[in-house]
Amino acid sequence: MLTDPLTGAATKGFAGAYGTAPEGIWSAPGRVNLIGEHTDYNDGFVLPFAIGARTAVAAAHRDDGFLVVASAQYPDEVVTVPLAEIEAEGPPGVAGWPGYVAGVAWAVTRASSGHAGPGPAGSGVSLYVTSDVPAGSGLSSSAALECATGCALNDLWQAGASRGELARACRRAENEVVGAPTGIMDQFASLFGEEGGAVFLDCREVTGEIVPLDPEAAGLEILLADTGERHAHASGGYASRRASCERAAEALGVRALRDVSAKDLEKAAATLDDETFRRARHVVTENGRVLEMARALRAGALRDTTGGAGALHQRRAAVGALLTASHASMRDDFEITTPALDLAVETAVRAGAFGARMTGGGFGGSVLALVPQGYAGVVGDEITAAFDRDGYDPPALSTVSPSAGARRDTYP
Ligand code: GLA
Repeated sequence: MLTDPLTGAATKGFAGAYGTAPEGIWSAPGRVNLIGEHTDYNDGFVLPFAIGARTAVAAAHRDDGFLVVASAQYPDEVVTVPLAEIEAEGPPGVAGWPGYVAGVAWAVTRASSGHAGPGPAGSGVSLYVTSDVPAGSGLSSSAALECATGCALNDLWQAGASRGELARACRRAENEVVGAPTGIMDQFASLFGEEGGAVFLDCREVTGEIVPLDPEAAGLEILLADTGERHAHASGGYASRRASCERAAEALGVRALRDVSAKDLEKAAATLDDETFRRARHVVTENGRVLEMARALRAGALRDTTGGAGALHQRRAAVGALLTASHASMRDDFEITTPALDLAVETAVRAGAFGARMTGGGFGGSVLALVPQGYAGVVGDEITAAFDRDGYDPPALSTVSPSAGARRDTYP
């Protein structure tokens, strides 16, 4: 039995592209970051969760020494890379989306301490990719592609890499092959995500823990509004924000902004120029908000009815306020939001959301809003109306909840 439509599409697509059945299907989800933005590469804390939208990779060995990649999303573009190039010292020079795939193949061969490699000389691999994670919407379609590819190759090549090693390999592909200087949050969320929980990650220690987050059981919904504005993290704002953070850490004499406390910030104001100070302040205060959110979720703040309905409402409002404060910090200090993202957040809060914020790297993408169950439609309609009034294209609306991480899918 095939498990779901995506697995079915991957199987069919593979057969269409290569005239044979795949040996297996591996899939990995996109993610929503509940809170903790641009903290990962500052050795800080993040709290993302895996979502239902996934990327599937159907794969099989071939015997001509090539890595061949076909995809449902780019049917006219079949990419062929000699495995010798993948095994070579330097990263493969493959541009565009196939760079993620070739990059992961390259990094996986270096990922584990045991045997890691494409296998006997002359062997190759065929991959077929299909996905329902929208690209550029802040939901980490890149990590979904990397992690599905990583799991497929790790199994096919019997590379023996652990999930943690795979997360690092996938990030390495993104940093060194694609050239996006991103942190490790997305790969971790995609590989370690679970139903009913968010992934709390200490990005310095690279250790994590699942904290309970089950919106449905708590009588809540997490609404997602995708503005349709697209970003790319290999260029521009993302890299310059990262550079500012590194400058700030150096000027303050710490290894990373993780080591700056809220109290240290007062001194930092005297040391740093105004813009660098605000970048640092975002990271420091955002780390604090992640820790507070993780504490609240561990304590069951969203569903603890001790003290009655009024007390529950207050606890939810406090959780929501962390989200909205995170957005304000990204808007005013880190300056990575756009007018459309700001409008979506303001409208959601005015329409009754407990809180809302942009999720992901910024400069476009999606907003999440925590709303009482049954209100996602109303809040979504308000955002759509506000977008219409201000001349933006209608947002794509959906609800999300923590879902399973990467897996090998059931296949007949
Ligand atoms: C992108 C990167 C992550 C992280 C976020 C911002 O999603 O891939 O590593 O830095 O932006 O929080």
